[in-house]
Amino acid sequence: MSESRPQRLPGDRDPAEEVARMLRVDHAGEYGATRIYQGQLDVLGRSRAADEIRRMAETEQRHLARFETLLRERRVRPTLLHPLWSVAGYGLGAATALLGKRAAMACTVAIEDVIDEHYRRQAEYLAETDPELRETILAFRDDEIAHREIAIAQGAQEALGYDLIGAAVRAGSRLAIWLSTRL
Ligand SMILES: [Fe+2]
Ligand SMILES: [Fe+2]
Repeated sequence: MSESRPQRLPGDRDPAEEVARMLRVDHAGEYGATRIYQGQLDVLGRSRAADEIRRMAETEQRHLARFETLLRERRVRPTLLHPLWSVAGYGLGAATALLGKRAAMACTVAIEDVIDEHYRRQAEYLAETDPELRETILAFRDDEIAHREIAIAQGAQEALGYDLIGAAVRAGSRLAIWLSTRL
């Protein structure tokens, strides 16, 4: 083993490669988020929840723009699954919105749960590797936690099938994260 990097174990990825994979999956996730909110807005655009959804969608656009810049700056390619996340994100947003405003909000709670945990883990790793990126991710994580609060305030937990929606969306999001990290 090389003596210059004593803390790395055999099979550990190079930190630069690890950070590239993080940027790729985060970019994919934020893109997926914009598509989910678009799907929700196309169904619920005239409802009373529309303003809240629009505000959350704007935050996701800002997150996405930041990751687009980071990918470009660091020459990281986006996930190959980009077109899939466009359709899957939009479909998820529209489908839950068709079940009603509360179901759409239940979907948001589940997504933000997964992202909260995902960003927290990344921030832990980045403490040594890339403190600047860590700050960005922690700030975005605060935004996602705020989205979860908004969704709860909008009645997510009273959605019919709240647990079922939550379990399905969590499983789907974790799979999307797993795939986008690798592809
Ligand atoms: Fe976001
Ligand atoms: Fe969010």
